[in-house]
Amino acid sequence: MPVHAAATLPAPRTALSPATLETPMPAADEVLVRVSAVAINPVDWVIQGTGRVTYRWLRTPAVLGSDVAGEVVAVGADVTRFHVGQRVFGLATGTDRGRDPLREGAFQDYTTLLERLTAPTPENLSDEEAAVFPLGLSTAACALFQPQHLGLRMPGDPASAAENGVVVIWGGSTSVGMNAIQLARAAGYDVVTTASGKNAETVRSLGAGDVVDHRSPSAVDDLVAAVAGRSVVGAVALGAGSTDACLEVLSRTGGKRLAMASTPISLDSLVGSRRLFPAMLPVFARIGLGTVRSNLRARRLGIRAGFVWGSSLRDDAMGPRLWGEVVPRMLAEGALRPAPAPLVVGEGLGALQDALDRQRAGVSAQKVVVRL
Ligand SMILES: NC(=O)c1ccc[n+]([C@@H]2O[C@H](COP(=O)([O-])OP(=O)(O)OC[C@H]3O[C@@H](n4cnc5c(N)ncnc54)[C@H](OP(=O)(O)O)[C@@H]3O)[C@@H](O)[C@H]2O)c1
Repeated sequence: MPVHAAATLPAPRTALSPATLETPMPAADEVLVRVSAVAINPVDWVIQGTGRVTYRWLRTPAVLGSDVAGEVVAVGADVTRFHVGQRVFGLATGTDRGRDPLREGAFQDYTTLLERLTAPTPENLSDEEAAVFPLGLSTAACALFQPQHLGLRMPGDPASAAENGVVVIWGGSTSVGMNAIQLARAAGYDVVTTASGKNAETVRSLGAGDVVDHRSPSAVDDLVAAVAGRSVVGAVALGAGSTDACLEVLSRTGGKRLAMASTPISLDSLVGSRRLFPAMLPVFARIGLGTVRSNLRARRLGIRAGFVWGSSLRDDAMGPRLWGEVVPRMLAEGALRPAPAPLVVGEGLGALQDALDRQRAGVSAQKVVVRL
């Protein structure tokens, strides 16, 4: 059995550590990829630092990581869209419930990707650029297009002008936000969003119409003014405090749908604490109470609000359409750019722990990437 190198999480709340794993054969609906670049998401250090408190099902050792770019080295029996030698990028879902956290994690030299969550990398994109897409793009698509969230039409779906409207995206300079702006615009919607001043031009260049500073005390008023009486088809809440802010905007603009992707407070303090117990008690109490309060407020306002799970498109019809049709077409047309820009912080599996720490320290319109 061939083997390869991986960076595993040996046990909850431990540092990533080198390991040798058996290189799997791809299942019928998978491709085996030699990984050449991975990107880091907040969820990677959240899982590392909170373990089974947040990811109850996750057994260790596990291979973390969602964002993969590389080259196909083997294809499963039913795979039709890819061939050996092709450059691809895709969403690794190994840490999800029911998946295999060793075979399907990103942070290793070889991983398996589901054909339906993989796209060819165009010639004009480097692997480092392609690696910024998978989880940010997938989460944005879940928020915008899944019927249980905003339920918007997808790029390429026919629409009359009367069906257009405004999407409010709180957190436009996040990775999820930058992808959401591009997807919403490509589907024909106007976007009003938030970003700090220094990132306003970047999010405008992705298609946002009006950009408001989320740190400004008048941010909610400014968003309402930016909507300017147009029909609001929903809001996407990204970042601490975003849920309440979006509920306020929706209540004042008549929007009725909210997709929430962030916990009410960041889990960062918990990840950094020396012991999870009892530090987790006040944090989870605040998260629980905040969630109940927001849900009650949403219900009172007649707003349908739900929490987005960025890899849930694996099991619905939207995922294959996004990855198989929409993403390749948007890339070919120049309607989808890799954003945030990759910030390559190191090379090799040994650079991954520092990369996770770098992401956790905070980024501004940058995607932390490691070259393997
Ligand atoms: N539910 C899911 O499946 C899922 C999946 C992916 C991500 N998420 C969550 O979605 C959020 C965004 O993740 P990401 O990876 O896209 O983040 P990210 O790229 O790490 O976000 C960094 C950006 O956040 C912006 N920001 C900081 N505080 C903010 C606030 N209070 N409101 C709005 N924006 C703020 C900053 O903008 P400026 O520099 O312009 O100030 C910065 O550029 C996180 O909470 C993450 O945990 C959830």
